[in-house]
Amino acid sequence: MKRFRSFLMSLTRSPIGLVGTILAGTAGFLIVTLILWESIGEQQHPYLGIITYMVLPVFLILGLILVVVGIRRQRRRLAAQLESGEIKIAEFPVIDLNDDRTRAWLISAGAFGATAAVILTMATAKGVEYVDSNAFCGATCHVMEPEFTAYQRSPHARVHCVECHVGSGARFFLKAKVSGVREVYRLWTNTYERPIPTPVNNLRPATATCQHCHWPTKFIGDRPGVIDKFRSDSANTHLQTILMLHVGGQTLGESEGIHWHVDPANEVRYRSDPSREDIREVVLTRPDGTEKRWFNSADPNPQWTATGSSAEEDRDEGEETIPTDVWRSMDCVDCHNRPTHVYWTPEQAMDEALLRGAVSENLPFVRREGLRLLKEEYGSRDEALAAIADGMEAFYRDSFPAAGQAQADAVSEAGEVIGLLWATNIFPEMNITWGTYPDHLGHPGFKGGCLRCHTGTMKTEDGEAVSTDCGTCHQVLAMDKPAAQIRLTTEETN
Ligand code: HEC
Ligand code: HEC
Ligand code: HEC
Ligand code: HEC
Ligand code: HEC
Repeated sequence: MKRFRSFLMSLTRSPIGLVGTILAGTAGFLIVTLILWESIGEQQHPYLGIITYMVLPVFLILGLILVVVGIRRQRRRLAAQLESGEIKIAEFPVIDLNDDRTRAWLISAGAFGATAAVILTMATAKGVEYVDSNAFCGATCHVMEPEFTAYQRSPHARVHCVECHVGSGARFFLKAKVSGVREVYRLWTNTYERPIPTPVNNLRPATATCQHCHWPTKFIGDRPGVIDKFRSDSANTHLQTILMLHVGGQTLGESEGIHWHVDPANEVRYRSDPSREDIREVVLTRPDGTEKRWFNSADPNPQWTATGSSAEEDRDEGEETIPTDVWRSMDCVDCHNRPTHVYWTPEQAMDEALLRGAVSENLPFVRREGLRLLKEEYGSRDEALAAIADGMEAFYRDSFPAAGQAQADAVSEAGEVIGLLWATNIFPEMNITWGTYPDHLGHPGFKGGCLRCHTGTMKTEDGEAVSTDCGTCHQVLAMDKPAAQIRLTTEETN
């Protein structure tokens, strides 16, 4: 008891010790409160972990160090005083609760302390919520402007950035946070990469992100897909492609169709260059543990295929390796790599604007001219907006003065909309232009996407290729057929 009192005294007598005590006490209090708050809260706050497990402990430890320093200094001072004979140790004041003034003082000190603690906790909670918000991730940080813009036109525009990029669970906090700190450092020193490279190598596996909301073996079956396009003729003819996509899923315990790849019972691994564009080898591990292996005979480094066995675990140390090759297990993001950061091709952008009527179909050659203007190079957003608007006006003034005059509003509207199409897909300051971020869902131009594996050159040793049959994936019900004709056909059958 006496020792504890002398400990308390040495703590509070030296200013350093006092500061240390307050610091450590506050940090400790906040850590406990935040852990409690997180465990009862409904919402996940991935960034709370930085504060609870990384920032506050630093203050706690700093406080404790100050406490130790304070105690030692106080001890030394005491020893010096003892030696010189003038001992000035005062006892603690006696707290007499019968005294009205002492009671009033104690109550106000308690009330003040409690208020300060509540305010501190609320401020911290608000801070955490802010750091977690899309405003912080997407808008405060101008480097993320392209991702934020592209995200706002996606089906996930209401899903928080952190739900796909960080996920929940304490173990992942540190990993995501360490890389987060590195990003902030790059931002400060202006050494971040432009464009931000894709694929994101440290993206959390889809099991912990996408699969919080979507279920990999859900049976979806066949889904019709309609792709609207327009021709670059004077009438901007509306075309439609209608596909019946065999998305599949699990039935009677076995998966079929496109989502067969993500049934947890199958594992599809592949070896490719870091961009994941150039796939060289695919290994399927079936539920019974047997493997099937395909090699790409178009592989520019055929020494791999020559040995017949190139599994990464069979490789000898001294063997020549291709350092750029990476192995990866397929998950949602290998097909849905643009579930939310949706960048269009110029054609997709133009067709989308025509479809929703933002650009009038009645302007002769508006698609052709729009594409021409979109594909030109401009130095900045303002330059592009001005040049595209002027270009549209000039085209109709020179080539179709009558139509241009009769639809003057439509012309200026088209100029404005097409300018915005440019500005929401191209970001010169981040070096993002058409095609910087490829989309793997499908096979744009009959290469890439699914056809990275489903190509005639991806063969087993016996020469069996991964299926390239159009019917494996979809039935093509109509291909680039004028929409008016499709409408007529359906009217006839009704
Ligand atoms: C629905 C899930 C999801 C949400 C929500 C999401 N992202 Fe992404 N993000 C992804 C995927 C998937 C990739 C591409 C990964 C790949 O190809 O390896 C990606 C890639 C990125 C990249 C790398 C550049 C690129 O386009 O490939 C950045 C930067 C990024 N996201 C920032 C953000 C920001 C900022 C937000 C919030 C405004 C956000 N993300 C919201 C899933 C998401
Ligand atoms: C927080 C929940 C949530 C997460 C996490 C999430 N999604 Fe979604 N996703 C949704 C919702 C809700 C919809 C339906 C949106 C709609 O119909 O407008 C959706 C729609 C989709 C669609 C259909 C798109 C379309 O055009 O109709 C795909 C594909 C998809 N998500 C893939 C993914 C992938 C891949 C990931 C992980 C990178 C992911 N989702 C993560 C909630 C989520
Ligand atoms: C092999 C490529 C591939 C993989 C892997 C894949 N998908 Fe898909 N998914 C597709 C295709 C193709 C479609 C149909 C797209 C369309 O309708 O335009 C689709 C459709 C969807 C849809 C919309 C279904 C609907 O009701 O219309 C959702 C949601 C979805 N996928 C989620 C996921 C999730 C979650 C994962 C990971 C567990 C995943 N997908 C893995 C190719 C894939
Ligand atoms: C990383 C390589 C890879 C990619 C990319 C890929 N697949 Fe596959 N896919 C495979 C392999 C391997 C098989 C199994 C072939 C076999 O068993 O003969 C397969 C099988 C399939 C099957 C048949 C499934 C069944 O019922 O057995 C469909 C359908 C399919 N893929 C569609 C797609 C679509 C659509 C895409 C693009 C959105 C795609 N795949 C992308 C490797 C890939
Ligand atoms: C490995 C699976 C797979 C194979 C094989 C395949 N496709 Fe596709 N195809 C897809 C997917 C996935 C999409 C994209 C659907 C979407 O965007 O919703 C697509 C889209 C299309 C489109 C519409 C694309 C557009 O922009 O107009 C056409 C047309 C098409 N396929 C025709 C074919 C034909 C013809 C073959 C056979 C020579 C074939 N496909 C082989 C998976 C496949």
